[in-house]
Amino acid sequence: MIIANWKCNGSKAMTNTWVNNFLTNYDETKKAFIGIAPPSIYIQRLLETELNKLAEINIGSQDIDISSGARTGAISSDMILDFDCKFSIIGHSERRQLFNETNEEIKQKILKIAKKTITILCVGETREENKNDQTRDILKKQLEVVKDIELNNSLVIAYEPVWAIGTGNTPTPNNINEIHKFIKDVVQSTSYNSEYPMVLYGGSVNQENAKSFFKEEFVDGALIGGASLDGKEFANIINIFNETN
Ligand code: 13P
Repeated sequence: MIIANWKCNGSKAMTNTWVNNFLTNYDETKKAFIGIAPPSIYIQRLLETELNKLAEINIGSQDIDISSGARTGAISSDMILDFDCKFSIIGHSERRQLFNETNEEIKQKILKIAKKTITILCVGETREENKNDQTRDILKKQLEVVKDIELNNSLVIAYEPVWAIGTGNTPTPNNINEIHKFIKDVVQSTSYNSEYPMVLYGGSVNQENAKSFFKEEFVDGALIGGASLDGKEFANIINIFNETN
């Protein structure tokens, strides 16, 4: 599973160029689940492109709100489903840090959406927490949001160390592998139906380093920010994933 998170980037012109560059470079002989999460205002536009002809390509949302109604600026889970989104990213560290999102709100979002579509829950420690050897404790706390929730195999975890996002720094592939195994075990032992989730790695993944992560046993794919803004590089990363798996 390879997911593009465009964050707050893009334009009408960019989506056209992106789709062309992607389709020219994407090798569709193997069909891993591919997701693209543009800013929600561009979801419809992407749904209307040639991408729609490829069954393995799924458009998703970068977030949902906890509710609907008098909540200016928000987008509800029902709206996302109405637009045929096949997944939603929840709990990204930028939502936690810039929009003060709490674990409680993240849990509410998961409850809204987990049984209806794929939920990609982001977790990850800050640089300081990493330096203080608190990574596992922090992840355990963040993963409490899935405790006792019935998930119907819809949950995917993205391990995104905050210090690796957009910095060019990453943990070693071996470190990532160990943390992914830890995450799978924690979710399996705490979720209602003992789910053993896929775990994606996110944080400075690009076409140069992707293979080193994809070779690891417990790395089930990637959640990609910066490198996903170039349709060609995103396609190359998917091709590398398909060759490695
Ligand atoms: P970068 O790939 O730009 O480091 O971003 C990762 C990320 O935050 C994806 O959600």
